[in-house]
Amino acid sequence: MMMMMAATMVTCSSLFLLGLATAHASSDTVTRTSSSSPTSSSSSSTSSSSSSPRMKLSYKELQQFHGVRRFDLERSCCFSALLLDEERGRLFVGAKNFLLSLSLDNIAKQEHKIYWPAPVDWREECNWAGKDITSDCVNYVKIVHHYNRTHLYACGTGAFHPTCAFVEVGHRMEDHVFRIDPSKVEDGKGKSPYDPRHNAASVLVGDELYAGVATDLMGRDFTIFRSLGKRPSIRTEQHDSRWLNEPKFVGSFWVPESENPDDDKVFFFFRETAVEAQGLGKSTYSRIGQLCRNDMGGQRSLVNKWTTFLKTRLICSVPGADGSDTYFDELHVEKA
Ligand SMILES: *[C@@H]1O[C@H](CO)[C@@H](O)[C@H](O)[C@H]1NC(C)=O
Repeated sequence: MMMMMAATMVTCSSLFLLGLATAHASSDTVTRTSSSSPTSSSSSSTSSSSSSPRMKLSYKELQQFHGVRRFDLERSCCFSALLLDEERGRLFVGAKNFLLSLSLDNIAKQEHKIYWPAPVDWREECNWAGKDITSDCVNYVKIVHHYNRTHLYACGTGAFHPTCAFVEVGHRMEDHVFRIDPSKVEDGKGKSPYDPRHNAASVLVGDELYAGVATDLMGRDFTIFRSLGKRPSIRTEQHDSRWLNEPKFVGSFWVPESENPDDDKVFFFFRETAVEAQGLGKSTYSRIGQLCRNDMGGQRSLVNKWTTFLKTRLICSVPGADGSDTYFDELHVEKA
């Protein structure tokens, strides 16, 4: 119970890391850098000793004063999955048709890359289904996790045909290994989104992947899905708006509560259309969902479904001068 409190508190403070948008304030209103005082906006010195915390640093400012290095890759884009590996001095990046391994010493240096396109027949199939051949029917690598000492686990949209693979990275930095074993490529349904516009939130715990993701081509069947390990896969109840209602997944975390792995929890952060607020028109609420790692699914009912799933509204707000609070209901991932 104590741990739950801690987790929720961490949650509230890390919201700012994840980024928030409110229903009331457009994000355009915070594009200028930092402070409220008009004098500091013209000062370009680095010694800004303003008492108000800096909320935003513009890209231009970063470039000017902090020696930013930039990585570009021709015919790719959408560096949507980032995995930091300090031990190996690497940043692994999932992108359109590529998986990259960049050096933390100099990210701009052309480093290892794996070209990972979707097969031609999947691309054609995707195109027949009415999707755009160049923007939709390609492989966007959306998920990259550490799997074990030598391998990563990565998943991509695969032209609306989600696919995952084990990626060999070697034991040490000096190994310079970076490859996908073609015999270890597998179905990515319930792990990666189909649609390049969707995001999945996922976490790998032990040898199991917990993912909040759409599991169908149409992007209607959203689920929190556990797969990959030795246990049978389990998920949230299908088409039941009380479990999940048009969720947009934002992040997910594994929280061991004690020495006993039976106490381990997995938390999901998302926003969704609130069923409890239906009388008031369509409202979006920020949520935290909790699962127990030792959940095996039900015996008679809820077979292969979670039996420990709980969720609640995340209430974070700032009081306004006029006494009315602004609620942060639309939890987002802030993408660089
Ligand atoms: C890591 O996992 C891969 C894929 O299952 C396996 O081939 C490899 O032997 C594993 N490495 C270690 C060190 O366990």
